[in-house]
Parts: sequence; C-alpha cells; structure tokens
Amino acid sequence: MALARRRFDTLIIGAGGAGLNAALQLANSGLSVAVVSKVFPTRSHTVAAQGGVNAALANVLPDNWHWHMFDTVKGSDYLGDQDAIEFMCREAIPTVYELEHAGVPFSRLPDGRIYQRKFGGQSQNFGGEQAARTCAAADRTGHAILHALYQQNLRAKTHFFDEWFAINLLRDDEGVVLGALVIEIATGDPLIIEAKTTLLATGGCGQVFRTNSNAHINTGDGMAMALRVGVPLMDMEFFQFHPTGIVGKGMLISEGVRGEGGYLINKDGERFMERYAPHAKDLASRDVVSRSIMTEIKEGRGCGPRADHVLLKVDHLDESVIAKRLPGIRESSKIFAGVDPVYEPIPVFPTAHYSMGGIPTDRFGRVVVPERHGEEAVPGLYAAGECACASVHGANRLGGNSLLDILVFGRLAGKDIRDYVRENPYHRNLDEAVVEAAIAPLERWEQGGEGPGVAEMRGTLQRLMEDHAGVFRTEAVMQEGVDKLTDLRERLAGARLRDHSKAFNTARIQALELDNLFDVGMAIAVSALHRKESRGAHSRPDYPERDDMQWMKHSLYFKAGDVMDYKPVRTKPLTVETFPPKPRVY
Ligand code: FUM
Repeated sequence: MALARRRFDTLIIGAGGAGLNAALQLANSGLSVAVVSKVFPTRSHTVAAQGGVNAALANVLPDNWHWHMFDTVKGSDYLGDQDAIEFMCREAIPTVYELEHAGVPFSRLPDGRIYQRKFGGQSQNFGGEQAARTCAAADRTGHAILHALYQQNLRAKTHFFDEWFAINLLRDDEGVVLGALVIEIATGDPLIIEAKTTLLATGGCGQVFRTNSNAHINTGDGMAMALRVGVPLMDMEFFQFHPTGIVGKGMLISEGVRGEGGYLINKDGERFMERYAPHAKDLASRDVVSRSIMTEIKEGRGCGPRADHVLLKVDHLDESVIAKRLPGIRESSKIFAGVDPVYEPIPVFPTAHYSMGGIPTDRFGRVVVPERHGEEAVPGLYAAGECACASVHGANRLGGNSLLDILVFGRLAGKDIRDYVRENPYHRNLDEAVVEAAIAPLERWEQGGEGPGVAEMRGTLQRLMEDHAGVFRTEAVMQEGVDKLTDLRERLAGARLRDHSKAFNTARIQALELDNLFDVGMAIAVSALHRKESRGAHSRPDYPERDDMQWMKHSLYFKAGDVMDYKPVRTKPLTVETFPPKPRVY
C-alpha cells in the first residue's frame, strides 16, 4: 500500500518543553518544522512540573553557576558528564531570562525580581549553607512555561500535528534517519513524514511503574523507537523515586513544599531526616530522602493503620504562604489524599518520577552511538528532554534541573539542527523497505484471534517493575525480574487487540504504547542487574558502596540480545577544574 507522505525540514516528536523550545529556534530561523504530539501540546507532561527551574540568579541568597555545577555533579553521584553539566548551569541564567521575556509569569519578590525557592541538594559555596536557586511560578511552573512556549510557536508558524502518534523512525541502510511513520489518532490513517532531521522529545517512561507521578502518556515512546533502530539506551538503571508522592496514588507533592519549610515526620512525630542528613535534613537529594523514608517504614516507624507511609507536615506554615506559593499542592492533597494541608499533614511515599537514563546524546542533542574508535553521531537523529541522556543527571537528578535540562538542550538541539539542515539541504531517497520495516508494529496488532489483552499485560508489567526494580534492589530480586520479563516478552507476542476499528481507537494506541513500555522496562531491568554497586538512585543492599574503580562509567543497553556495553564518564568540564569523586554527605 502506498502511504501518504509529507515533507518538512525537520520533524520533532513530542511537544513538551524540549520539543517546543527546539521548534521555536527552528521556526524562527525560517525552516519548516513539524511537531507531532500524541496529545494537544499543552497537555504534554511538562505542564505538570510543579516546583520550578534552577538558575543561579542569586535573587534570594548568594549564588553562582559554579556552585550550581558542583551541586549537580555531587547530586549525580559523580556519574554526570561535567562538560555538559557546566554548559547547562552556565546557560541556566540566560535561559530563565529568555523565558521571562517570552511571557512566563514567574512568581516575584517584593522588588519585582524573580522569586527563587530552596530545593533539595542545593548549596552555597560548594557544599556550604542551603541555596535558593529554583525559579518558580507558584507550584505550577511547568504549566506557565509550556503555555508560553506554545504561544510563541504559534506565532512562529510551527506546524502542529496534534493527536498524532509516532510509531517508528525511518532509518536507511546507511544509518541515516529520514523521518518517522506516524498515525492520526482521529482517523487511524498512517502518514510518512520525511524530514532532514528528526528530534525525539517524547519525555519519560514513568508509566512503566505501577505507582508513579507521571501522566498516562509517559510511555517511553522515543526511547523505544531509538532502541528499535539499533540505538542503545544509556544509564537506564538510574530511575528516580521522588520522595513525596501521595501514598497509594503516586501524584506528586512538590519538593517545593519542603523548600517552603515543610518537613517529614514518622509515626512518633520525629523529624527523622535529621538522623539521615544532619545538615540538609529534608532538603537532601532525592535518592537520600526516598531511601530514608523506605527505611523508616521497613523498621516499623511508618504511619497509618498499615504503617505504610510517612507524613509531610505543612500545617505550621502560615496559610497565606500556602495560598501564594503552594496552591496546587493544597488542591491535590484535598482531592487525592482527602486532607487539607493547612490543618493536617499529607501522607506520602516515594513515587516513580523520572528517568535519569535515556537516548545517549552529546550536548548539542545529537544522538551518539559507540563506534570502534569512540562514538559517532547518528546522521539526522537528535534527542532532547527526559527521553535523552546528555548526561547531566548521572545517577540522581536534582529537583529543578529537569525543566532546566529540557529548555537548555531543547534550544541547543534546535540550533544544531538548523546548522545540519543548512549543510544537508536535500531530502534523501526513502526506500520502500525502510517504510515496511517501520510499519511492522502497526500490522502486528492487526492480527486476529484470542490472546491476552493490552490492559492486563500493562498491569502485569507495571507490578513487575515495581516489585523488581524499586528503591532497593538485590541480585536475586532483579534476576527474578529479568526472568519474569523474559516470560512476559513471549506472552506479549501473543497478546491481541480486540477492537480493530480505525476512528479514534485509543486501544490501538495503548497497544503500541505497551510495546514501548515493555522495551523500556527491559532496558531498566537488565541495566540494573548488571551494575554491581550502589550509586545515586541505584541502591543495592548486596553491594552497598559506590565503586569508582569499577563502575564510574555509563551503561549502554542494546535491545538486540539484551546486551550491555559501557563508556567512560566525561570528567573534564569546559573551562573549570574537574570535581573529583568524593563520599556524598548531606
Ligand atoms: O518536586 C517537584 O516539584 C519536582 C520537580 C522536579 O522533578 O524537578
């Protein structure tokens, strides 16, 4: 069947902060830009970001980008690439001002400057007193940013394919990426989008875990598309569990709550973080706080009839602070936890939140793969945002560095794509065989007959990941997880779609998402099993220490054969001295 085709200079898959910031650079340069988004752009997951975006503006307390860089390297447990981290922390400052000029309504200090709150893992003077580095629009910062970027893109005439789903990349036998195969959700009709460059900006994969803070759309689509064209995923064992999700539900209660003075207590009313992180207390880095909560519960100091959570206390704060700085949190707590934090503490438990790993890129957003003499960019393919790994977060991301990452690297990818298109001005020939390979997942779900259903398989996968790739992991637990995933892979091949209708068939989209979730889940589980140390969010009671001699390296997981490879951490920054690894204390 000959499929319809459209041509653009560049294709961007995903309309969150990374995709839209890249699109803006490109559309403003006069290139034709297609943004494919499976939801209306302002429903992308960036909209849910609460606490804010880090930049050393020094509006509230003394600060500079070098301190920000130190905190980020330390937070990453020395697995982040220091050249990319330096770049991000320096760029943070102009990035926030650019957003301000684009119309983002940041909260303000009385003198009119941008308000900044305290967040976890932030320090002054390389590990000294707490810093205040997170620029916030109350507790709806992502909402403010995403809407501003979308409006700017409308003005720049970016072409949006709203509610279209990307199935596969088109990669030819010379390894060049030529666009993607997509379908329109409303009609079920496939379309080939040919592009000189393709940027994956599809966000994270938090839906691979049962209890998570992510939107339903975060199904690792871009990561899985990369895997299917032979690109490995990097550092996938490092998945962040945010300390404060609403117990049993997973919705996020922003770190901003602790930044504004909230704190955690156990069943005895003890402020237990004082024991685990005497200096930073509740504003230690997220991996530390999540492990502390789990330990409190494991040792019998959990709260509630099932002793299965701890409490986040805010009721000592003035109601006006909550109204001004945390209005969304109050609303979420009332709706999902049934408590009003002005009067009662919020019951919380760590929730799957963020993938530190992803598609390996350099700091220009070019996707890079190992070659015999180092690594090489995949021609025509870029990635930015949570689906990518630049790597600025290493083994543990600091709160407020996610919005920063998507904005800085989205913008830089846009600039690099512009140069690439100028140097490669013509579309390459697209072979029918490439299209046929890309359409296989769509055709696979058209098979008739009986088999397990998609919802059942998704539930099994999510429970399995929660049980076998959680906050603490041992060899036995992880091996069992990989074995179960291997069995699940076989069952997945027999799963069937019951509804084959075309128009607005969301069941078909969920089936395609299930394929993606499975591939990403396997990448997490296999990568975790192989890393025999504890570092950042990867915490192994059977290997409790960080092992810099053996393991200060990035992992690369390949789908073909579930094979692992490794590459060195880039410890040399751009202009300053390296921060050598040290024991991490807060
Ligand atoms: O806690 C939060 O507001 C989340 C922020 C982040 O993940 O960066």
